[in-house]
Amino acid sequence: MSIEEIFSAMSAHMVTGMMVHEQLMNSYLFLNLKGYAACHEYHYMSETKGHIRLSRYKVDHYDMIITQTFDSNNVPDIVPMSWYGFNRNNIDPSMRIQAIEAALDEWIKWEEETKSFYQKIYTDLLTQNEIPFAEFVKSYILDVEEEIVYAKSERLAKSSMGFDIVSILEEQEEYEKRFKKKLKNIL
Ligand SMILES: [Fe+2]
Repeated sequence: MSIEEIFSAMSAHMVTGMMVHEQLMNSYLFLNLKGYAACHEYHYMSETKGHIRLSRYKVDHYDMIITQTFDSNNVPDIVPMSWYGFNRNNIDPSMRIQAIEAALDEWIKWEEETKSFYQKIYTDLLTQNEIPFAEFVKSYILDVEEEIVYAKSERLAKSSMGFDIVSILEEQEEYEKRFKKKLKNIL
């Protein structure tokens, strides 16, 4: 890919990623799991900052604005269509558990796709001898790797306790505090 195409593809991918976190946040708010919602609000804002960093990098290092190529077909569909006409007061415990499991799986799947996408770009840039830009892309690979490790450990922790809804409800307050603090630190 040309440098121009790489920037456009990365920008479009990041916009989808921000929407993934926004939809996960909305799903958890709907499920009344405010701690998990705060986790995705944090990632949403953190990745928005990452997107801004990319835009700035293009202008600073290549003197040009990124050409936006986001395709509306890439809007994620994390929130099940059936939820849009549903009232959250009617959610039963089994629906809540299924939704948590599905949300964790969607999160891990998206971040693994993202890592693979960035890694392809990284190797492409190395073959083009674009070392500084490759190093810049590497910082996103390392960030997403951390996110995957965290998301997978969350998935394992929940499945280990059989997605026990009482424990899940009990930990919301602590999660909310932790991620609101992390959010403040990046703003
Ligand atoms: Fe993410």
